[in-house]
Amino acid sequence: MVKSLLYVSRSLVASGTASIEIDGIAATSIARNRRLGVTGILLATPSGFAQILEGEAASIDEVFGSILRDVRHKDVTVLSYEPVVRRRFERWSLPYFGRSSYVAGHLEPFLAGNMLGATEAEQRLMDLMYEFGRPIEGVP
Ligand SMILES: Cc1cc2nc3c(=O)[nH]c(=O)nc-3n(C[C@H](O)[C@H](O)[C@H](O)COP(=O)(O)O)c2cc1C
Repeated sequence: MVKSLLYVSRSLVASGTASIEIDGIAATSIARNRRLGVTGILLATPSGFAQILEGEAASIDEVFGSILRDVRHKDVTVLSYEPVVRRRFERWSLPYFGRSSYVAGHLEPFLAGNMLGATEAEQRLMDLMYEFGRPIEGVP
């Protein structure tokens, strides 16, 4: 059974080294997530992260265990973790990292306060992440 996990966290990465750190996370994630059959995407802004992990529960738990221990972020908050009928991501997408206030605006409510249960904001964030992960037709 495939499950999907969405979490947000506060970044502890210094802004000067952010792109190097994200590249490092990307390099580790591509190999490991592929091996474990984990699909999804990581969204990174200067202040936080949002990530969707899809896969078998044992695989998600393994990756998420490492993520929880990672000192590059804090206040990891699971917004949802549920079985899904089918995957929404075909692959492990490259992380999105940027200073776009549009993207940060989707993450900000969760970093600003206790937004657990704010289903509309959660849906907007998820929709944005699905769009970032949507490949162009015909491009391998
Ligand atoms: C925000 C964030 C997201 C991460 N996402 C993944 C991921 O999807 N897959 C992965 O293998 N590692 C990911 N990592 C890196 C792991 O936390 C960890 O450094 C790496 O998997 C090595 O695991 P280990 O420390 O248990 O050996 C992420 C780290 C951060 C800070």
